[in-house]
Amino acid sequence: MSRLPFALATAFLLVATLAAQQAPPAPKSGPYAAIPADAAKQPNPVKSSPESLDRAQKSWTMDCSMCHGKDGDGKGSLATDMKLKIAPLTDPNTLKDRTDGELFYLIKNGYQDMPPEGERVKLQENWDLVNYVRSLAKTQSASAQKP
Ligand code: HEC
Repeated sequence: MSRLPFALATAFLLVATLAAQQAPPAPKSGPYAAIPADAAKQPNPVKSSPESLDRAQKSWTMDCSMCHGKDGDGKGSLATDMKLKIAPLTDPNTLKDRTDGELFYLIKNGYQDMPPEGERVKLQENWDLVNYVRSLAKTQSASAQKP
């Protein structure tokens, strides 16, 4: 009988230790917080036009769609393979609180599991990509509003 409390305590300790080990890792803090205020405030010098979106499409297809999906739904094949949870860019809410400067910065420098676009694209093309990701949501809300 006197052993029971000991056994219980041991069991409790074991469970507590396992629980501590299995605690999910702290969420990755993306560089959003680290985006310099000046970069976040930078206005987009490239007007969103069919030409801009055309230029972005090539980079999107080569560098982005394998994760974000062709239409931005976040279900690209690489995202599935890597078990990434990616917010749909088709949902207008996903980027509504982001400035163009912030999007430019994270596309250029990477974000969480997303690799930086870096020097692969010219400055103008990086802004084209900002316009492109914005257009993914607009397309959807526009079509959602169709009667
Ligand atoms: C390896 C997979 C991967 C690739 C390739 C990738 N991304 Fe991402 N992207 C992510 C992940 C993961 C996140 C963070 C999760 C989220 O925000 O939904 C993210 C976030 C974003 C966001 C911010 C969404 C938000 O919540 O604010 C934008 C915009 C974006 N990506 C655009 C792009 C563009 C443009 C490209 C191509 C140049 C690209 N991504 C390439 C995985 C990827």
